[in-house]
Amino acid sequence: MRLGADRVRVRVPATSANLGPGFDALGLALALYDDIEVRAVASPGVRVEVEGEGAGQVPDSEEHLVVRAVRLALDHVGAPQSGLHLVCRNRIPHGRGLGSSAAAVVAGLAAARGLIGEPEALSDDVLLELATQVEGHPDNAAPAILGGATVAWLRADGVGAAPLVVHEDLAPVAIVPPTHLSTKAARGVLPATVPHADAAFQAGRAALLVEALGRRPDLLLDATADRLHQEYRRRVMPHSLALVDALRAAGVAAVVSGAGPTVLALARRLVDGAGTDADAAITAAFGGVMAGWQVLPLAVDTQGVRVNGADRPIG
Ligand code: HSE
Repeated sequence: MRLGADRVRVRVPATSANLGPGFDALGLALALYDDIEVRAVASPGVRVEVEGEGAGQVPDSEEHLVVRAVRLALDHVGAPQSGLHLVCRNRIPHGRGLGSSAAAVVAGLAAARGLIGEPEALSDDVLLELATQVEGHPDNAAPAILGGATVAWLRADGVGAAPLVVHEDLAPVAIVPPTHLSTKAARGVLPATVPHADAAFQAGRAALLVEALGRRPDLLLDATADRLHQEYRRRVMPHSLALVDALRAAGVAAVVSGAGPTVLALARRLVDGAGTDADAAITAAFGGVMAGWQVLPLAVDTQGVRVNGADRPIG
């Protein structure tokens, strides 16, 4: 397959995985974006410019995650490799549980879709398969591709993803600490097995969460209770868990975002449009002791990754 264009722009959203009980399965796209421009050039090699998050920290070589993903997708469809020039304007914080690595991978795969002559060869399903190969789990990649809330699952022969209904009152607030934590480190503290009673509890809450997200936001506090990962991770993110505890005690459906250490409050928009029902609890929970944390009210992103400013052209 030939390249059909030599320049492409991609916008990809942040995502929050797990949402409490939906470990490695549920995810939500948030209106905070990385913008990537990719040029295919005749001279071999790569040039990477990064502005914003990760500048001066991420590799500026073939190891850059967006470059790796572009190359993976071009190889997948048998398109020729070329030199690549990237400009990345990053807003998604790195190492905080807001899906920055999935965003980079999905951006690279979507950029390849924009560069090749037959973009249908890189359908959403193919993007999800390839992103999951790189990421190891599909919970961030699915909402980064599709937008909104998603449930994703692994099959023996691939990866599935389905969009979920999101209630119009849902008003997520990300509370982002200044500290980083790698997903690898956060997975390293999880046990190999859990009690059957906890697994049963979790299955019930994950099912309830689908209903609460779509139609019953009044049930979100019960629906976001988790027994598979958050408590086990307390020792590697004690401040995040303390904040989750304080917010939940105040009635806010707060969870650890992905593998942390960001906390996500699944708040509800107030009827008069001014803020959310979690704002007072978030202010009270800070109590002056959480210097350097950022409170980011973020709308739900409903579109997922965009190529050249268009709505997703390919299913
Ligand atoms: N679900 C993953 C975890 C993070 O909690 O380890 C995002 O893929």
